[in-house]
Amino acid sequence: EKVVLAYSGGLDTSIIMTWLKENYDYDVIAVCCNAGQKEDFAAIEKKALATGASKAITIDLREEFITDFIWPTLKAGAIYENEYMLGTSMARPLMAKKLVEVAQQEGAFYIAHGCTGKGNDQVRFETTIKALDPAIKIIAPWRFWDFESREDLLEYAASHNIPINQSEAKIYSRDENIWHISHEGGELENPWNEHYDTIHVLSVPPEKAPDEVTYVDIDFEAGVPVGIDGQKMGPIELLTKLNELGSKNGVGTADLIENRLVGMKSRGVYETPGGTILFAAHSALEKLILDRDTTQYKYIVAQKFAQLCYDGLWYTPLREAISAFVDETQKLVTGTVKMKLYKGSAVAAGRKSPNSLYSEEFATFSKDEVYNQSDAEGFINLFSLPLKIRAIQKQNKEGG
Ligand code: ARG
Ligand code: SIN
Repeated sequence: EKVVLAYSGGLDTSIIMTWLKENYDYDVIAVCCNAGQKEDFAAIEKKALATGASKAITIDLREEFITDFIWPTLKAGAIYENEYMLGTSMARPLMAKKLVEVAQQEGAFYIAHGCTGKGNDQVRFETTIKALDPAIKIIAPWRFWDFESREDLLEYAASHNIPINQSEAKIYSRDENIWHISHEGGELENPWNEHYDTIHVLSVPPEKAPDEVTYVDIDFEAGVPVGIDGQKMGPIELLTKLNELGSKNGVGTADLIENRLVGMKSRGVYETPGGTILFAAHSALEKLILDRDTTQYKYIVAQKFAQLCYDGLWYTPLREAISAFVDETQKLVTGTVKMKLYKGSAVAAGRKSPNSLYSEEFATFSKDEVYNQSDAEGFINLFSLPLKIRAIQKQNKEGG
């Protein structure tokens, strides 16, 4: 039997590889997803083959990850529980889709993954697999094998000659891609503990950022970032550039408690340098262009979008319908935002658009034709009518 294994080259999935062979004699196809994490993929493939894989494949997901997952989430303005920018959540459905494709090409009936039974990732992988190919069976060793801790894994690795990197004695559970890195576990498990400065991987702590301000202009077309400082760029180049600028200026660290789908709360530290700049820029541009009702309705939809994404419900009718609505709202979201980066903050310093609804002439206090101040009196009379009626009734009751 053939099994497709979501393989990272790390301790857990290396052990799963050996364990699958030892216990079931499966033919394991290791699939390594390059979502932009800084790894040596050739070395990972080599390690997979050396530890028993019959085949090792690396798939470059970066461009599709950005255009089909990150941009739709950015356009929706979706942030989970107001703080988490969904870096891991967005990546899982794409990885699962690729695993399904490989399974179909290779004639494999099984997909195995290294997610624990306590987290969100298992849900995201498996909802997607079921949505795309319900015939595939899932193997999630963490939910039924006898290992219970990192120490158990290290012991198994030692007894089965599975090579361990020094970094794998690490304390944090991390997940990195071109959008973010997440850190969970270690001292973070006590929510009273401040995270160490040394946790940072993608960015400097704000205190260590330079004392000078950095400006960057970001061009958007129909809600999608397309250029920096007037220069057109493809998605990978653009996000990489913003990551560099955000990283240098300490932008994009979030330290939060989140509600996992599986019921428990967890503490996480996230670095999303470029993404944090992009969200602030996109939102600043929208505020210039969208009318009030659309702006506010989008907030409601954003919350639902974030939850669907977090919960592994990317490939669902509702997520697709919300994206269709969002795309309609983005048609005019074209223009440029000047972002100012400084010691952890990323704020819009200026914004312009050919489709701006903002009019200096209307907003100004001088006399004009479009806005007649005497109209305001009648407007307020009708707008406040329910309040007035209530006040009168209250007075009447108290009086008699
Ligand atoms: N808590 C975040 C989420 O659910 C990050 C999960 C990180 N996953 C990992 N395997 N380290 O999206
Ligand atoms: C895991 O438990 O596999 C990682 C964390 C998560 O999925 O939430």
